Amino acid sequence: PVVPLTDILSGAFKERYGVPAINVFNDLTLEGVLAAAVDRSSPLIVQTSVKTVRSVGGATFYALWKAMTAGIEVPVALHLDHCPDREVITECLGLGWNSVLFDASRLPVEENMRQTVEVVAEARAHGAHVEGEIESITGVEDGVGSDRAAAQQDLDVALEFLETTGVDVFAPAIGNAHGSYKRAPVLDADRVSDLVAAHPLPIALHGGSGLSDEQFRDLIARGCAKVNISTALKETFMKANLVFLETAAREQKWDPPSLFRAVRDDVMGLSGSLMTLFGSAGRG
Ligand code: 13P
Ligand code: ZN
Ligand code: NA
Repeated sequence: PVVPLTDILSGAFKERYGVPAINVFNDLTLEGVLAAAVDRSSPLIVQTSVKTVRSVGGATFYALWKAMTAGIEVPVALHLDHCPDREVITECLGLGWNSVLFDASRLPVEENMRQTVEVVAEARAHGAHVEGEIESITGVEDGVGSDRAAAQQDLDVALEFLETTGVDVFAPAIGNAHGSYKRAPVLDADRVSDLVAAHPLPIALHGGSGLSDEQFRDLIARGCAKVNISTALKETFMKANLVFLETAAREQKWDPPSLFRAVRDDVMGLSGSLMTLFGSAGRG
């Protein structure tokens, strides 16, 4: 069933497994990630960027979500990724998104805190949940973000943010970055442990594409219950199209449904292997 975000994250945080939070951008990628969740019996968080909400249309995407999750037995939730725009947050909460990441990391932390309090109140009125962020994570996710990471805030500032706003999940900067890493990332895993020790709350690991299996396992064991993956799925999607179309052109076979099937299967394959790696497989 479609459930609140915290229903999915509380079990994952307590038992230290990670739930993939995968950015989809059309019907086929949505279908592929949901098929993987059913196949692996895994909980799943489906994410949309602001760009996807704008390109597909919020109401159209939500209609797809409703239709494709009708009768689904594993727990799934729909989340709005990095959103600095309060109007898009209001639109998505109104349509039925289960949670939102209010990304005010470019604002001074006091103003971020003040507005996050408002977003949490707005979300609660819809039975929805909020992810908070006070440092911009390096790299651009579908047009949102910056290529320079904001300095990490002191632990005290992060804790004050968590206590004041009551967000349900927190996205710290730990040396992670959106996109594929140009060199092997050195992550500040202890920061996750320090945050969780001082304020036990599920942590969102951003910039998942390009991390090693070992990094995923270590961070999940420390409390990263939500693991964001975007770039890897975009690559899988584009390459599946490319490979299929090269063959189709050579053989002069132009059958759209077989292209869709091939792409969907690769999206499903990638998503399923993440569920196994993160330990969410079998937890649905
Ligand atoms: P990647 O594109 O590096 O997987 O990051 C995903 C992410 O953090 C989405 O918010
Ligand atoms: Zn992110
Ligand atoms: Na990344």
